[in-house]
Amino acid sequence: MNFYDSEKMSDLLTNHGYERTEVQDDADLIIINTCHIREKASEKLFSDLGRIKKLKDKKDIKLAVTGCVAQAEGDQIKSRAPYVDFITGPQSYHRIPETLRELSLGKKVSPILEFHPNEKFDNLEYGKEYKGPTSFVTIQEGCDKFCTFCVVPYTRGAEFSRSISEIKDEIYSLTDQGVCEVTLLGQNVNSWHGLDTLGNERGLAHLISEISSIEKIKRIRYTTSHPLDMDEELIHAHKNISKLMPYLHLPVQSGSDKILNAMNRRHTAKEYIQIIDKIRKINPNIALSGDFIVGFPGENDKDFEDTIDLIENVQFAQSYSFKYSIRPGTPASILDTQVPESTKKERLSKLQKVLFSQQHKFNLKFIGNEVNVLIEKTGGRENQIMGRSEYMQSVYINDNVGSIGDIKKIKVTHAGQNSLKSL
Ligand code: 5AD
Ligand code: SF4
Repeated sequence: MNFYDSEKMSDLLTNHGYERTEVQDDADLIIINTCHIREKASEKLFSDLGRIKKLKDKKDIKLAVTGCVAQAEGDQIKSRAPYVDFITGPQSYHRIPETLRELSLGKKVSPILEFHPNEKFDNLEYGKEYKGPTSFVTIQEGCDKFCTFCVVPYTRGAEFSRSISEIKDEIYSLTDQGVCEVTLLGQNVNSWHGLDTLGNERGLAHLISEISSIEKIKRIRYTTSHPLDMDEELIHAHKNISKLMPYLHLPVQSGSDKILNAMNRRHTAKEYIQIIDKIRKINPNIALSGDFIVGFPGENDKDFEDTIDLIENVQFAQSYSFKYSIRPGTPASILDTQVPESTKKERLSKLQKVLFSQQHKFNLKFIGNEVNVLIEKTGGRENQIMGRSEYMQSVYINDNVGSIGDIKKIKVTHAGQNSLKSL
C-alpha cells in the first residue's frame, strides 16, 4: 500500500508542477514514505534521515516524512530530526501541495495526523503518464480486527471502503495509462463492502465482478485478506470470474490454536484449513500464499511444530514470514512471555526451509507446461523480458516473444525457487 500511496503522492505533485526524479541529488523535495509494521522497517527511517541531512546541509531541499511511522512517532521524529520540514500521516497526503505552499511562504507547519480517508480519496488526482500494464488500486483502508501484535488499526485507523463508482473511475483512468491488470488493495481487503446500483450492500465478490466488466482490464487480484472475511460469494468468484487470477494470499500467522487465540485472530487452525479446502474444491489449481509470525509471546516448541504441521497440510505456493517484532502500544508488546531473539531466529530459519521448498515444488510442476504470462518489464539480462503467470510467479523470457503489456502463452523450461524461465 505504501507503494500505491507513493505513486499517488507523485501523481498529485506532478499535477502541481513537480517532476519525478530517480536521482536523489537532483531533488528539490524528498519524501520518505514509511512503514511501521515491524521495528526494522521503522528504524530504517532514522538512518535514511541522517543520510539526507547531509544533502540538505549542502542544498536547499525540502524534506518530508509521511506514512505510518509519521503517524505513530510524529513527535519523536520532530525531536530527533528537527530539520524535517513536514510530517504527514497516511490519511492526509492530499494536503501535501497546500503544506508546500505554506512552507514557501515561510510559515511553520505542524504534523498533519488526522484520519479523514473520505477527504483523502475525494482529493486524489489521477496520473496521466504511461504506467505500464499493472497497477495497485486501494479499495479499502484501515482495520477493525485488532490482532494483538499489529499496529495497523492504530496507524491506518478504522476500516473504510471506497465506493464502487469511485474505484471504477480510477480504474478507467488507469486503463488510459496502459494498465490491464489491477491488484485491489486493502489492509483487510475482503472486508470491503459497498452499495450496488439498487442500493443493496455487497461484498468484494460483487466489486470484482463489476471490475471484470471493464473490457480493458484482463486480470484482477486482491490482497491482503483475513480468513474470517472469506465469504462464500468470494470463494465462488475464484471459479465464476475468469479475470480473477487463481492466486490467494490468506495470512494465517500461526498453526497453534493457543497462539491464534492470543493473537486475537478469531479462528482456529482447523477453521483456516476448512476455508482452504473449500477454496481448493472450487478451484483445485489455486496458488496459496500466507503470512507467518514466529516467536509471538508464549510460543513454545509445540506451538511452533503446530505451525509447521499446518504448512505441511496446506502446501503454500508463496509466503511471507517474520520474526515477531514488538510494536509499541499493541497488547502483545507488554506480555512478559517474550521469546528470546535466538529462538525466533532459529524458528524462522526452520519455517522458511519448509516454505521455500514448497514454493520450489509448486514451481517445478510447471516445467513442460504452458502458462499465460502478462509481460511487465525488461528482465535483468540482455534480450530478456519479465512477466507474471496467472499464479503470480515471475517468468523470464526472451524479448522476441512479445512486448510489454502482451499476455502470451509461454512454455516453461526451467523452474527455480523464485521464478520460472522459458529458454
Ligand atoms: N511482528 C512481526 N510481523 C508482523 N506482521 C504484522 N505485525 C507484525 C509484528 N508485530 C506481519 C503479519 C502481517 C504482515 C503484513 O506483517 O504477518 O500479516
Ligand atoms: Fe493487522 Fe491484518 Fe490483524 Fe488487521 S487483520 S490487525 S491489518 S494483522
